[in-house]
Amino acid sequence: MLQLESVSKQFATKVLLKEASVHLRPGTRVGLVGPNGVGKTTLLRLVLGEQDVDDGRIRKRPRLRIGYLPQDLETIPGHTALDATHRGSYPEHDAKRILSGLGFTESDFSRPLSALSGGFRMRVALAHLLLSAPDILLLDEPTNHLDKATQRWFEDFLLKSSFTMLVISHDTAFLDRIATHIWEIRHQRIMESVGNYTKYVAWREAFEAAQAAAADRQDKEIGRVQKFVDRFRYQATKASQVQSRLKQLEKVKRIERTRDPKRRAIPNGCVSGFPFPRHRDDTRSTSKASPRHTARSWCTALWIFSWSEANV
Ligand SMILES: Nc1ncnc2c1ncn2[C@@H]1O[C@H](COP(=O)(O)OP(=O)(O)OP(=O)(O)O)[C@@H](O)[C@H]1O
Ligand SMILES: [Mg+2]
Repeated sequence: MLQLESVSKQFATKVLLKEASVHLRPGTRVGLVGPNGVGKTTLLRLVLGEQDVDDGRIRKRPRLRIGYLPQDLETIPGHTALDATHRGSYPEHDAKRILSGLGFTESDFSRPLSALSGGFRMRVALAHLLLSAPDILLLDEPTNHLDKATQRWFEDFLLKSSFTMLVISHDTAFLDRIATHIWEIRHQRIMESVGNYTKYVAWREAFEAAQAAAADRQDKEIGRVQKFVDRFRYQATKASQVQSRLKQLEKVKRIERTRDPKRRAIPNGCVSGFPFPRHRDDTRSTSKASPRHTARSWCTALWIFSWSEANV
């Protein structure tokens, strides 16, 4: 439905995305996370075409209707809360139902937008978006202005609807309740996992621990070959072996360590016994493997990968 293919984007010297690829599938509710300033809002703007990619491309299904709730609202067309919600094109009773859910009373419906607080203006914009039912909802921190009761209504509404959505939020409890997938902008790429935020954090820990372990093994292998080269470099009888090892060293693609060193280590490096969330394209696969088996095979796969990459 929407696909980023090897997208790069930077502002001046700040690189936000470097060859990031990801796919938004119909019916999924994706939580987009990452620290302040990492590029989350920019990603939504790229999808909307408000910003251009530097490289790569964004593919969208033809005639895709995208609804956007910006992080900072400027103006909303309309005079009263109710007009601004239905804007003449949608049934008034549906607009009222949604406004009520978002905490408006009957008497608030006719209040001018200018008399509403920023938080309530944001709710009007959200009400209009929910009513217009676009193919994809892009929401930038939608719960910032919602009290607990209204947030509950909003979560229920999203869970009952079949909206495909990409929602930026720092509210991890909200993401735990509504997200089917998490994307994190991290090291200029987009990491993706299936499940809610808690599952994502566990997955990332496991992934990065295994990646670090694989990189350690690769370093050891490289060290071993380098030692051989250093030792026999000047021995004529070993010249061809030294040459072939030098070539191997040149070809090695180093495994990246993306782990934040401040984060705690997972005992045993790999993740045996860990309920390993499937990753990316496995979303709809029906693997019969047990989580323990999946985790073990996955670690083994990474190990084989690292070993064959080093191939020394
Ligand atoms: N139009 C622009 N021109 C130059 N720099 C920009 C522009 N838009 C964003 N930036 C910079 O790009 C970086 C990412 O901004 P962005 O708003 O996408 O971050 P964010 O992840 O949404 O942050 P937050 O969580 O604070 O909302 C920031 O350093 C920001 O200052
Ligand atoms: Mg932002």
